[in-house]
Amino acid sequence: MEEKKQKNKVQELKYCSIMQKEIFEEPSVVKNLLDTYTTSKDEITLNLPNKIDNIVIVASGSSYNCAAIAAPLFIEYAEIPCEFEYSSEFVLQKKHFITPDSLYIFVSQSGETSDTLNALKIIKEKNVKTMCITNAKNSTMWNLCDYKILSDAGEEKSIASTKALTAQILCSILVLLKIKSQKGEDISGFLNTMRRLPAYLERIKNDLPKIKSAAKEISNFNNISVLGNKNYYPVAKEGALKIKETCYLNVMAYPFGEFMHGHVAVLNQKSLVIAIIDEENSEFAVNNLKKIRQDYNPKIICITSVQDVQAGDFNIYIKTKRKLKAIFGSLLTLQLIACELAALLDKNPDNPKGLKKVVKY
Ligand code: AGP
Repeated sequence: MEEKKQKNKVQELKYCSIMQKEIFEEPSVVKNLLDTYTTSKDEITLNLPNKIDNIVIVASGSSYNCAAIAAPLFIEYAEIPCEFEYSSEFVLQKKHFITPDSLYIFVSQSGETSDTLNALKIIKEKNVKTMCITNAKNSTMWNLCDYKILSDAGEEKSIASTKALTAQILCSILVLLKIKSQKGEDISGFLNTMRRLPAYLERIKNDLPKIKSAAKEISNFNNISVLGNKNYYPVAKEGALKIKETCYLNVMAYPFGEFMHGHVAVLNQKSLVIAIIDEENSEFAVNNLKKIRQDYNPKIICITSVQDVQAGDFNIYIKTKRKLKAIFGSLLTLQLIACELAALLDKNPDNPKGLKKVVKY
């Protein structure tokens, strides 16, 4: 009954699911966060410790994928050591690496996930500076952490997290930019890129007919591998997670290079590869795809931000030269693919079987 009511409400609003509605909100979520946390003088109004010499990010599920996307960005752009760990593994570790100015960041949409909360409690006992990035003000994590960032995506009802993850990634980027500015570095170029993000995401959203056609292709396959390098590997993992949660297909994600070390053997003519390609990895990716095609001839779908690189049987072009935009663009594309695929496979993405919004023990 409740599910039927929910479905009617969503149909009234002209979305095919709550998940789709929440994905469509992403450009405005991003704009709102930039308006809240940045000023016209290119300042970032987040409260951070003055000294940070090492960062560890701990999280689960999609929030873990945020950690995995953000950590290499902290290293590359803020030049600060940064590690990341699954909350459930972190709590099992016998020792935790702590420096005099370590900052432990806990990322959680709900602020209540047991694994992440337990990890936070372990670190609290060690007298280390803690920060949370959460969508839930006054959640347990919010109240326990020394530094708090509200990811402010608005209530996320869909069990498959979408807009909350996009908001978490943007907040992480703002933290790294704040660290950069605390070191006296100019961040205006980065902020300009981020300010163009809402319009960029809007354009990708408007490419829905293309994404629907991609989903139609994908719906013929149940052996699916998603490939991406560096920051795009966790994006690929998130895409796989979204398809698992909404379509119950066992989709696997791999880094391009690592895929060639044996995993590639799962491919054949009846399998499908989704490849994420950007400026930095295009040559490497295209060479690997050639080899894959030669040896196994799977169907290949490319999500590419580089116009000349249309290496798939089907290509979704998410034009940009900026990695910080392409990360969000490829993520949004994969989220929409999962949502469309669920509809095609007659699954209700708003009610995935056996899953709960907050994983608590
Ligand atoms: C994502 O789509 C999931 N439903 C799930 O992996 C979720 O991200 C995870 O349980 C962590 O939740 P949190 O962000 O509320 O801590």
